[in-house]
Amino acid sequence: MDDRFLVTGGARLFGEVSVAGAKNSVLKLMAAALLVEGTTIITNCPAILDVPLMADVLTGLGCRVELSDDTVRITTPAQLSYEADFPAVGRLRASVCVLGPLMGRCHRARVALPGGDAIGSRPLDMHQNGLRALGARMSIEHGMVVGEAERLRGAQIGLDFPSVGATENILMAAVLAQGTTVIDNAAREPEIIDLALMLGQMGAKISGAGSATITIEGVDALHPTEHRTVGDRVVGGTWAYAAAVTQGHVTVRGVRAAHLAAPLERLVQSGAIVEELADGFSIDMPSRPRAVDFITMPYPGFPTDLQPMALALAAVAEGHSLITENVFEARFRFVDELIRMGADARTDGHHASLRGRAKLSSAPVWSTDIRAGAGLVLAGLVAEGVTEVHEVGHIDRGYPHFVEDLRSLGAKIERVAL
Ligand code: UD1
Repeated sequence: MDDRFLVTGGARLFGEVSVAGAKNSVLKLMAAALLVEGTTIITNCPAILDVPLMADVLTGLGCRVELSDDTVRITTPAQLSYEADFPAVGRLRASVCVLGPLMGRCHRARVALPGGDAIGSRPLDMHQNGLRALGARMSIEHGMVVGEAERLRGAQIGLDFPSVGATENILMAAVLAQGTTVIDNAAREPEIIDLALMLGQMGAKISGAGSATITIEGVDALHPTEHRTVGDRVVGGTWAYAAAVTQGHVTVRGVRAAHLAAPLERLVQSGAIVEELADGFSIDMPSRPRAVDFITMPYPGFPTDLQPMALALAAVAEGHSLITENVFEARFRFVDELIRMGADARTDGHHASLRGRAKLSSAPVWSTDIRAGAGLVLAGLVAEGVTEVHEVGHIDRGYPHFVEDLRSLGAKIERVAL
């Protein structure tokens, strides 16, 4: 059982908030430290539970990891273990991102597969097919993904879907393969660019990161580097939507507005005034938001990770919104929780249809994943009464000092420890 949050609705959010590095980047940057011998330094790390979990994964593989403030130092030995099958691996879905670096560095890997995820199935076919194209034998054996190769050779790889995780694993294996690898239909997320930047500083030869075609010239060895994690656009987007639902005025620093172009554009359509700043953006929602439609897509489309925030906005917007989920099929479980809070919502397959209400009504609700948890808190901010959000351990995995940041903006929220 996790702690609970008590959220009292009604406050409009005002003020300024700073966002740390992206969860979805830092975990991959940490995994990339497996590719070098020596000490890699990563700064702007967010204070979230997933970072020490990833540190445990790397420690289990033979690295020494020191975490202090927002910096993580990872010292990777000459001889690594290639078997990741210990408790931290099972607790961290993202630990599958050690697969590519282990294949690149050790030419073999055995990584335990985490259990099912509440946001939908997360198969590894594209990860495995990509590594197969590089010359590895890949299989699933006794709950582990197993890879083996004499050597990796560059190849032309076309992904069926621009999967973030598959692009990252293939990229991290290909940097140490012999010859040239081309990944077509690659994911274009800012976190891919961040990873490619760090790998480039380590001596990798990569071009095209951030576009649909990434080209990698394999090198014999990489060297350690120091890198600053890109700002977390999902956390920044969460604060933007929190400002919008509460009709507040918030300045967000530490995230590039360009990385949130689609979510901020929707807010403008909904009636917000958005101003781009050198190190972030500000958002002012002077009146009740107008309903807009949302369609989640791989970057640069509207991110699936902000879909619960879009649903919270639609629940209180003036008019009718249609929300289409194209990335993770089970994400609409969150709608049932919103309905418990009085939202006028229906789902049908990939679509959710909502008629906005001026206010929601507080209820006990349960987080099913990181982003749904944050979405429920946003809904609680515009609900009459006190909303009890359960299972907030999910939120702790992705949002550093969540309660403190919201309180500094004027929200009425407290944590109740169990
Ligand atoms: C990452 C993010 C997650 C975000 C998602 C999409 C991390 C730790 N997580 O997850 O927060 O929501 O990107 O932006 O960075 N798929 C397959 N076969 C594969 C791989 C993926 O069918 O081999 C499918 C998945 O089931 C899903 C879709 O592709 O439907 C997208 O998944 P992917 O982009 O790989 O997401 P993750 O990397 O798991």
